[in-house]
Amino acid sequence: MSRNDPFSSLDSIRSLAREKSPGIGFAEDISILKTPVQAGELTFPNRVAIQPLEAADADAEGAPTEYTRRRYIDYAEGGAGLIWFEACSLDFPEARSHGSMMVISRKTLKPLKRVVDEVKERSRSCMSELGLEGRAALVLQLSHAGRYRVEKSRRSPAIAYRFPGVDDAFGIGGDVGRVLSDAELEELMEAFVEASSMAYEAGFDAVDVKACHGYLLNDLLSGYTREGEYGGSSFENRARFLLDTIKAIKKETGGTVTSRLNAYDGYPPPYGFGCSGEVDEETGLTGFDPSEPTRLIHELGRLGVDFVNISLGNPYYSQYLTRPYDKMRGSRDSPIHPMKGVEKHFNIVETLKRSAPGMTFVGSGYSWLRQYGTNAASYNVERGRVDIAGWGRLAIAAPGFPRYMFETGAIPPSKICVACGNCTRLLRAGLRSGCVAQNPDEFNQSMKKLDEK
Ligand SMILES: Cc1cc2nc3c(=O)[nH]c(=O)nc-3n(C[C@H](O)[C@H](O)[C@H](O)COP(=O)(O)O)c2cc1C
Ligand code: SF4
Repeated sequence: MSRNDPFSSLDSIRSLAREKSPGIGFAEDISILKTPVQAGELTFPNRVAIQPLEAADADAEGAPTEYTRRRYIDYAEGGAGLIWFEACSLDFPEARSHGSMMVISRKTLKPLKRVVDEVKERSRSCMSELGLEGRAALVLQLSHAGRYRVEKSRRSPAIAYRFPGVDDAFGIGGDVGRVLSDAELEELMEAFVEASSMAYEAGFDAVDVKACHGYLLNDLLSGYTREGEYGGSSFENRARFLLDTIKAIKKETGGTVTSRLNAYDGYPPPYGFGCSGEVDEETGLTGFDPSEPTRLIHELGRLGVDFVNISLGNPYYSQYLTRPYDKMRGSRDSPIHPMKGVEKHFNIVETLKRSAPGMTFVGSGYSWLRQYGTNAASYNVERGRVDIAGWGRLAIAAPGFPRYMFETGAIPPSKICVACGNCTRLLRAGLRSGCVAQNPDEFNQSMKKLDEK
């Protein structure tokens, strides 16, 4: 560890934050993360969430395998109060983004239910060992891949609207990719309702109608150039599909619904949800405009959505926003310091939370801060900037991190995520993913394959 390593002590990371990102603060005492929080009918026994994390380890039908089961058992035994299951495809003509993704269907329901039952049981015993009541709340993320869709192993994007510039980055154009019609969207809405009722049958406490990271429902929110009922300059049109889908799920099932939402896409003007259109010359990044994200959250509240999970950016285009990193092989260099990316997450969630105090917010983007993410999370919760802090990559590296934190007050530096991006590289190549830094032997062969490509 070099003398200038910002992660060498709490004082060092504080001093970097003062210089780069004054919106990030660090509390010494992290016990506030061990307090419960209520959102509607759900109680989260603590304020730590495992974010949705795909690992390309489902079987050909989309059912969980032993690898999938093990990951979720590790999360349950790790003590998080909210386990947000990864993107799970609808059983709808190829809504998947890759072949080893989870799918919810009549065929996969039983094995999924077995995992859910076991996760609940293990979580309950873990909470009791930690002196906490109840068990983790379990949410299933329901996804239509949209621009990332694959059909018979070939990319076959089904998009919300043509998106020059960003489409180029995905090879969409000419006869690659087609815009879904309003009639197709309406069929898709039924598939969301069907998938939700299976998710509740499997034992999930809530379903997430995924509207983040450039997937179909996220792109519909910024479909300014789309024609018809679900696009155009009107906010009502662009938000209609998400809101009507949630309404339909609630009406048909009576279950709890949430959404993982992009509050800021960070696309160049004139596109992108939550974007002001004013570009910062130094970074090339568009500003954040909270007006539509805030309005959307108010509409969700009116529909009876009690909690939301906020994210930013597109992991294939502006990945430095979604998951801040220093350098990541296969991804472009971040135009902003990674700490500024983390600060954007924190400030944007705070802005939304201040404008919708009745909503419970799950925040993202904590892993780059290494072991000090917990201090930053405690600072944010103490000041009412967020309700629950969600970790992605740290949970891949150390699924037991909440337990370390609750039992010893800290996460051992040997257990952290170093933001190398190799789990993402594996996933993108369709290979079973996990933490390469923590488990080099397990992923040795796959990494060799990747490096040879
Ligand atoms: C390997 C990998 C898989 C991911 N899978 C999903 C997913 O299924 N759904 C989703 O909304 N986000 C997914 N994400 C994004 C994370 O949930 C999280 O937002 C991101 O990693 C930033 O948080 P962090 O800084 O704590 O890692 C994934 C991230 C990684 C690294
Ligand atoms: S592979 Fe790298 S980015 Fe992924 S969890 Fe491990 S250390 Fe973090």
